[in-house]
Amino acid sequence: MNKTIIKGIGHYIPDNVLTNQDLESIMDTDDGWIRERTGIIERHVVTKFKETTATMGVEAARKAIRSAGIEPDDIDFIIFATLSPDYYFPGCGVLAQRMLGISEGECGALDIRNQCSGFIYGMSVADQFIKTGMYRNILLIGSEAHSLGMDYSTRGRDVSVIFGDGAGAVILQPTENETSGILSTHLHSDGRYAEKLAFISPGCHGGYYADDAEKYGFSEDPLESVFLTQAMLDDHLTFPQMDGQFVFKHAVTKFPEVIQEALKKAGKKASDLKILIPHQANLRISQFVQKRMGLTDDQVYNNIQKYGNTTAASIPIALSEAYHEGRIDHGDLVCLAAFGSGFTWGSVLLNW
Ligand code: ACO
Repeated sequence: MNKTIIKGIGHYIPDNVLTNQDLESIMDTDDGWIRERTGIIERHVVTKFKETTATMGVEAARKAIRSAGIEPDDIDFIIFATLSPDYYFPGCGVLAQRMLGISEGECGALDIRNQCSGFIYGMSVADQFIKTGMYRNILLIGSEAHSLGMDYSTRGRDVSVIFGDGAGAVILQPTENETSGILSTHLHSDGRYAEKLAFISPGCHGGYYADDAEKYGFSEDPLESVFLTQAMLDDHLTFPQMDGQFVFKHAVTKFPEVIQEALKKAGKKASDLKILIPHQANLRISQFVQKRMGLTDDQVYNNIQKYGNTTAASIPIALSEAYHEGRIDHGDLVCLAAFGSGFTWGSVLLNW
């Protein structure tokens, strides 16, 4: 059976920089608080009305396509991972297909809703399609335009200071070369904690999971939409929510577990890793994982300081940067790992 390799890679970061000092001027926060707790110094944000999750994804995709030495029309499947899609539906996959000018009807497009682990889930799905011989050129994109939906007032500061915008993409292809390619992928979820990190409203939940559903101000009329109510708008319920400490505790347990799971399956040790590319959730989480696993500074890639947490985009951006900085070479053992909303988490182990 074929193995799956990353044949092309690229990333796109919007030009606008939003520093911690910029945030200090619009909400009650401070640079010291943000740096100490998250490691973030600045993040990039899209140009409103000119850039979206899909347009950034396409910019990253064009670079990945070029670096793979293929044409857009060679792509036979698109996987698009994001939690900040341009439309509620259809997903960004078809928008990317349209913008890339891939011939109508020639390729399928799948959207992945797995938040911080969306790229890992996408890699795993792509790997199955390639191993079975169904597709030969899969474009996998992770992209987020968080800034278009954040609460940048003091009320939303516990979430909004953490996130940034950007995109990364890879082209995945089959190889018969035994020494390179994906060795294994590992996917997990625990829906008990779905609301611990979530963007709940607007939505079609109708208050089903809430003990305090009256806060949504639903009408008794059975045919009146529950999707968006005046109460949701008035009470600022239309933003992401996070129980930061709860997420932190689970992240620092699940990251090492799922990395060890991949290493064990391949009969490898942490010291065999050339590089670990963790989802850039929080620098403190990555440092904790590094220490727990006994990895050196050179073995763990961090760029959250510059970009903040870019959710589904963080792994492909970091992987692309690490590759272009010469930190990854042919044959190197590379681990990608993520944990996030759902909770969902996972890892990919590969020989570059
Ligand atoms: N600036 C200044 N003060 C703030 C800010 C802010 N931006 N946000 C919250 N505070 C205040 C709080 O109001 C609180 O004040 P109080 O004590 O007067 O009530 C105080 O800071 C402490 O708040 P905590 O939430 O307890 O702060 P904590 O030390 O837990 O740090 C953080 C918060 C950074 C979110 C931390 O919990 C964390 O790192 N959690 C992990 C979650 C994470 O990384 N999420 C990323 C997305 S999920 C993912 O990608 C896996």
